[in-house]
Amino acid sequence: MVGKIYGTGSYVPPRVMDNDDLAKIVDTNDEWIRERTGIGRRHIIEEETTSYMAGQAAMKAVEMSGIDPAEIDLILLATSSSETVFPCAACEVQKAIGAVNAAGYDMNAACTGFVLAFNTAQAYISAGFCRTALVIGADSMSNLVDWTDRGTCILFGDGAGAVLLRAEEGEPVYMEAHSDGAKGAALTGLSRHRKGWTGAQEDKESYIHMDGQGVFKFAVRKVPEIIEEVLAKADMSLDEIDYFVLHQANRRIIEAVAKRLKTDISKFPMNLEEYANTSAATVPILLDEMNRKGMFRKGQKIMLSGFGAGLTWAASLFQW
Ligand code: UT7
Repeated sequence: MVGKIYGTGSYVPPRVMDNDDLAKIVDTNDEWIRERTGIGRRHIIEEETTSYMAGQAAMKAVEMSGIDPAEIDLILLATSSSETVFPCAACEVQKAIGAVNAAGYDMNAACTGFVLAFNTAQAYISAGFCRTALVIGADSMSNLVDWTDRGTCILFGDGAGAVLLRAEEGEPVYMEAHSDGAKGAALTGLSRHRKGWTGAQEDKESYIHMDGQGVFKFAVRKVPEIIEEVLAKADMSLDEIDYFVLHQANRRIIEAVAKRLKTDISKFPMNLEEYANTSAATVPILLDEMNRKGMFRKGQKIMLSGFGAGLTWAASLFQW
């Protein structure tokens, strides 16, 4: 059995912050941001929370699928910015959509989170542990960034995306994942809830710190590698893939990956101009946009790949 996508959904907050708005806060400008990243705008939460956005995206995916929420048996929510440590955001989504029979939990692998959650759900389904799974990526990066650091605050946005999977007979899903904890310092988001009971530990801020060029080089090297690994497992060639749906961090990263794979950039859809990097939400938001535009046909081969803090990277190849 494999998990076929029966529905997709996404949610971004209505409040838009464009590059000119950012130029009023930090020393930057629209031209620099567009040229270096491809980003034009980002959507930023006001009153919304990560679990609220996740619930909205989930509702849309469930609605599209036509499946009764009571039939969902698993909710996996990839996030690194839930408003609560517990209850987990997946349980908040369960409550919001009335998925009374589901088990749910959150998964944190930063920007790689959705692809890992998707693969985990596929593994549950193929093992027969569940039949209907909701996989969500949701992040409120605006709560984590340092709004005085022009090197990072320009990159991120907030949002959520979801897919509803239902077990069916079909071609297997091929997947691969890696971590390199030794390079974790390249991209960190420190929690401010770190005071031990003795009070001896420093109470740190929750800002993102990043070696931008280090992360850039890592992505450009490791994403093509993992895509080749998955293709080898599937015994498929690059030109059999219809779309490469990559984590939307930077247009130049995606262009460099396409170039390394000697594959036309038109197979690498992008929406980061509008949403920036919404971390775990980029891949499912893009899947939902493509789906609603009618870009997918039954039997098409789709390669997902996520990469980010950890360092972590993952890929998944499935047939629509
Ligand atoms: O999910 C993964 C998340 N992480 C990423 O995607 C990060 C990957 N890395 C990147 O996207 C790029 O490294 C950045 C977009 C972050 C930076 O681009 P870059 O081409 O690596 O620029 P840089 O850091 O080498 O900086 C070049 C110059 C510097 O000035 P000097 O030293 O040449 O005078 C920076 O101070 O650009 C300056 N700079 C800026 N200028 C205007 C850095 N940030 C900005 C800014 N606006 N926002």
